Amino acid sequence: MSHGRSTRLIVALDTKDTAQAVSWREQVAGPACMVKLGLEFTYACGLDAVREAAGGSPLFLDLKLHDIPNTVASAIGSLAALRPAMLTIHASGGRAMIAAARKAIDETFPADARPLLLAVTVLTSMDEAALHETGVEGSVVAQVLRLGALAMDSGADGLVCSSHEIAPLRAALGDAPVLVVPGIRPAGSALGDQKRVMTPAQASAAGADWIVVGRPITRAADPAAAAAAIAAELETALS
Ligand code: C5P
Repeated sequence: MSHGRSTRLIVALDTKDTAQAVSWREQVAGPACMVKLGLEFTYACGLDAVREAAGGSPLFLDLKLHDIPNTVASAIGSLAALRPAMLTIHASGGRAMIAAARKAIDETFPADARPLLLAVTVLTSMDEAALHETGVEGSVVAQVLRLGALAMDSGADGLVCSSHEIAPLRAALGDAPVLVVPGIRPAGSALGDQKRVMTPAQASAAGADWIVVGRPITRAADPAAAAAAIAAELETALS
């Protein structure tokens, strides 16, 4: 069933090789609305290579910043020349850090070119036992909701969340957060190390604004066709 919200595709270019990232981006540039470059690529290849890999496609720069407020704000200034469309921080950095990131974006970027500030709540690699070891009592979803509300209240534009967190986040926070959702697998594709997944259509129906897909596209025999099929599935889900 459609909820009237369009869901768009981000392709994760996870590699340590600039030429490989460029090749994937060129192949998916039609159906993909955005490309994601993260820690693996950025540390291996550097920021100039990030610019080259994105090649003018809208850029989701997924560096998951987490430090004292002043350092996070300064880091955002250092990333500004890349003109990202989305940036990530860890919500567990707290209100002052999130607010400093917001302020840095607003002061550094022109109003029509501000990246969306997205907060990561609880890494999906964490289960309840792992969370408890860090001193956080209660369930994973309770912590996701707590950090999600804190992030939005502190100036974030949205959240990165697992597909199974979309419904509780929408119930608690409504339409306002931009929800960006990795862990997506087209029906029939290999799970890899992903355990709790949804198909593109399921994530769209649940209320995702963006889905992030990596290996089902980049490891496909024909990445362009794989990306086009997912984009078509999202179109169908909307109609
Ligand atoms: O599994 P796949 O190759 O589609 O992953 C796409 C991107 O989403 C990767 O960059 C990965 O780091 C990120 N991610 C994820 N699962 C999460 C959170 C982030 O796959 N739960």
